Parts: sequence; C-alpha cells; structure tokens
Amino acid sequence: MTKLYGVIGDPIKHSLSALMQNRALQEAKMDAVYLPFHVPPQELKAFVEAARRWPCHGFNITLPHKRTIQPYLDELSEEAHIMGAVNTVTNREGYLFGTNTDATGYIRSLQEECPFQVAKSTATVLGAGGAAHAVIFGLLNTGVEKIFLFNRTPEKSQQLKMHFAGHFPQRIEAHDWDQERLGQALAQSQLLVNATSVGLNGTEFSNLPLDKLPAAALVSDLVYRPRQTPLLRDAAERGLNIHEGLGMLVHQGAESFRIWTGQEPDRAVMRQALEEALALEEKID
Ligand code: ATR
Repeated sequence: MTKLYGVIGDPIKHSLSALMQNRALQEAKMDAVYLPFHVPPQELKAFVEAARRWPCHGFNITLPHKRTIQPYLDELSEEAHIMGAVNTVTNREGYLFGTNTDATGYIRSLQEECPFQVAKSTATVLGAGGAAHAVIFGLLNTGVEKIFLFNRTPEKSQQLKMHFAGHFPQRIEAHDWDQERLGQALAQSQLLVNATSVGLNGTEFSNLPLDKLPAAALVSDLVYRPRQTPLLRDAAERGLNIHEGLGMLVHQGAESFRIWTGQEPDRAVMRQALEEALALEEKID
C-alpha cells in the first residue's frame, strides 16, 4: 500500500517540504507520497488523533504547532524535550513519537558548507523564537563556548536563556538590543546567526554593526526567501564568509526522511528541487 507522509502548518501553502520530500521519495523509488495539510490551531488535536489511525507513517510540523503539539504525542526524543519543540512525528502503529531535526539540520549544513568549527567558538544569535531555539540547541550541543543573544523583545531572550540554563549552564548571555552592546558582542564572535524573520522577502535590519565582526567571521542567515538576503549581501560585500538558510531546510527534511524510512535520501536531489523552486519564485517576483 502507498505510504503517506505529510506536513502540517497554518499557513501551509508556502511550504517547500512536499516538493523536496516527494522528489526524494521518487529518487528512492518508494511507493509513498508526502502531502501538505492546512491545520489551524483549533484543529490540531483532531488532526493528530486522526493521523494516529490513518496509514500515515509520519509528518512534519511547522509554524505555529511545533510547541503546542507536544501534549498530543505519546513520547518525545530527548532533543525535542530539551528544545521544547517538535518538527517530526513518526507513527509507529498508532504510537506517536516526536522528535526535532532542526538543530541537527542546521549544524550539518553549517559543517558541510562552511569552513567553521563550532566547538569552543563564540557566537552572536539574533532572535528568540522557534528557529533561534533550534539553532541555539544545535550550537550548545556541538560545544559552542558562548552565545550572545539579542532579541527585539528582551523578555523572550531572557526566557530562552532560562530555558537552556539547566542543561547548558552559563553559556548564554542575553542582552537588550543596544547598538553598543551588539557591537561589543560581534567583536568577540566568530559567528553571527540571524534567527529572526528579518530578511524575509527583502526586509532589512537597520544599523547592524557588521564592521565590528572579525574579518574571518561567518554570517549565517536562516532566512532563505530570498536565498541571498540583504544581510548576506552586505556581509559578502565586506568580505565576510556567508552561510545561506537553504541548507538547514534540506538537512532537517533529509533527517526526517531517514527517521521515517530508515534510508538515506539523496540530499543533492532535495537541494536541487528547492533551488529550482526558489529560483522560479524569485523570477516571478
Ligand atoms: P520562527 O519560528 O521562525 O523563529 P517566531 O517564533 O515567530 O518564528 O520568531 C520570530 C523571531 O523574529 C522573533 O525573535 C522576533 O522577535 P520578537 O520576539 O521581538 O517578536 C523576530 N523578529 C520578527 N520581526 C522582527 C523585526 N522587524 N526586527 C527584529 N526582530 C524581529
């Protein structure tokens, strides 16, 4: 019987997961299909209960359900538990297991695409939402020494800091978004990560003091629409190394595929599917 996989979110129509996963399933010659499902928050519980009974072998979770889905699942991986967010559910004959591949996906992309050593490094991270939680968990778990955290709403960076304090004590310093403090943090950082939604569809930061970063620093942007965000363009013009957000999307999806099927997907094919789709979107815009 054809196996069913999917992704749930609200909204869901901009998701590129179905395109990427179906390309990988085809490449692996699997009798399976991956579908997007529009699930508003009030329907989340009902969806999960229905999916438990369907021949649905697994599904991904995107905004805004990554945190709220937790109580409806039977078991969480340690990673998902510490992150407090789930992006991958596996249906083991009615028993729902939740995990999170976002952090692994980010770190794999960083390590494959950039000349960068996370262990013992110092990073500045902008943002304190879901994406920032995943990236910060990935960096902490890979041995980052210190993270300077800045967020527009300072209460949220304090919350994020407290969230990880039990497992990774004293490695995060949360600061108000103050130009001078940001400059001081960048001067000590080998990595700057944008985990906010600034850059999406061409929006820009005003006055990010990139000139304070050391010349060999890496600027990493999780935003992939457009692939070359204003931040990455600015960083490249200054001769800094850059890391695009597309790789995280590829590898978090590839990790989900591996968990569900037990097989390694063709990551190059997945990346190519995304590159083609984004190039087309940029041409249409
Ligand atoms: P995601 O799961 O993609 O991280 P999110 O949880 O909604 O989405 O988080 C969005 C992040 O982008 C937050 O850190 C948000 O800052 P606030 O906590 O202050 O809302 C940040 N963000 C969004 N728009 C921003 C802007 N114009 N300037 C700075 N930060 C912004």
